[in-house]
Amino acid sequence: MALEKFIIEGGHRLKGEVTVAGSKNAALPILAATILAEGPCSLGGVPRLRDVDVQARILQTLGVSVERDPLGRINTRIRSEEHSMAPYELVSMMRASFCVLGPLLAKRGYAKVSLPGGCALGDRPVDLHLKGLRALGAEIEIEHGYVVARAKKLRGANIYLGGPSGSSVLGTGNVMMAAVLAEGQTVIEHAACEPEVVDLANFLSAMGASIEGAGSHRIRIRGVRTLEGCSYDVIPDRIEAATLLMAAAMTGGEVIIKNIEPTHLEAVFDKFKEAGVGFTRNCRTVAVSMAGRPGEVEIATLPYPGFPTDLQAPMMALMCVGQGASVFTDGIYPDRLHHVAELKRMGARVLRVNNTCVVIGGERLQGAPVMASDLRAGAALVLAGLAAHGETHLRRIYHIDRGYENFEGKLNSLGARITRAPDDSPEKPPAL
Ligand code: EPU
Repeated sequence: MALEKFIIEGGHRLKGEVTVAGSKNAALPILAATILAEGPCSLGGVPRLRDVDVQARILQTLGVSVERDPLGRINTRIRSEEHSMAPYELVSMMRASFCVLGPLLAKRGYAKVSLPGGCALGDRPVDLHLKGLRALGAEIEIEHGYVVARAKKLRGANIYLGGPSGSSVLGTGNVMMAAVLAEGQTVIEHAACEPEVVDLANFLSAMGASIEGAGSHRIRIRGVRTLEGCSYDVIPDRIEAATLLMAAAMTGGEVIIKNIEPTHLEAVFDKFKEAGVGFTRNCRTVAVSMAGRPGEVEIATLPYPGFPTDLQAPMMALMCVGQGASVFTDGIYPDRLHHVAELKRMGARVLRVNNTCVVIGGERLQGAPVMASDLRAGAALVLAGLAAHGETHLRRIYHIDRGYENFEGKLNSLGARITRAPDDSPEKPPAL
């Protein structure tokens, strides 16, 4: 893979309208759920992203054909159920691919799926996924880095899925996708309430599953014998939407964001109000208009409907140009703070103790060579570059391509100056 970087010329105010793509984190498990369908599925709103390409490759390995039609819809169809092994090379690229475990087990009675391993956000265990599937009657062994799961017939059960940091989004999804074909009733207690879980439940219901309570902490599922293919449209990406709103606010801009579901972003709007970020929300659009610098805020990331961990880094970038001191605590991923050192290279003043950071806002950031460590850290550094004085060279933008569709294109359409260029600087091992 040829490496690329962004060259961001800072200091341009964003202005105009932009449309948000479908949700990455809804689309990925929904793609996994197509394994359960007897007939073809047609999905609208699946964003064009590297993570979606990886999920498609995994599905193809598992005998599912995945094609994008001229209208942009993704069409899937089961070609063969012979291979139920998701290899390390693909699963280690993207954790959401671990979500094929539940559907494979439920539909084919057997699955061998690589353990994903850690990532830039920390350990990221999968114990809750395995606990839930075992409760449904699966026999699960860990063999040479792979989860090998077998079940002649899954049976409904009462499953408590709370972990040390609360609920698990993909864990809830994985167990829900297995339970829809289990015999009898399953109740998932302490289920994740994220809109992406609701979207997955809606997709499964459109296939013929019987699910109640998605969006609450208790999901009740009555198993059915088979699921049909269906046509479905994925919800808008709330994280992309909020990132674009923050980008607009950060440049003192005036931007209208279209294809947004404002009710998915209540925690963010609450913080916008606190910080004095001006916005108007309508049914499917939000307009942001920012004059001056934002005020200080205190943010602790929490499971939905709390402030999302996926927006901690972009919001921190915004507060780097705020007035006063803002406090950030990431309770979901205590190690998700790699952007802090890079923001500091751009002149940000951030003090960190464990998983808490105090950001002392300043007038202006400075352009600098920086590096993206993960998707949202990358987005935060783009935002910082937009507001910085001078040029920012952001490396490892493949992280951004995983999760933001045409990010620089959308920002440039609003007046940003971001160029994608080959990155010829040698990849070096991390300094010790
Ligand atoms: N956890 C456990 N055991 C498990 C699973 C999770 O202890 O078996 C812990 C995690 O370590 C973490 C917390 O539970 O502390 C929440 O993790 P969760 O399982 O909810 O995360 P996930 O489902 O693996 C999804 C998103 C992430 C997002 C998190 C939290 C997808 C594809 N990924 O991950 O999105 O940060 O929920 O909202 O849906 C991103 O898009 O940049 C991203 C990382």
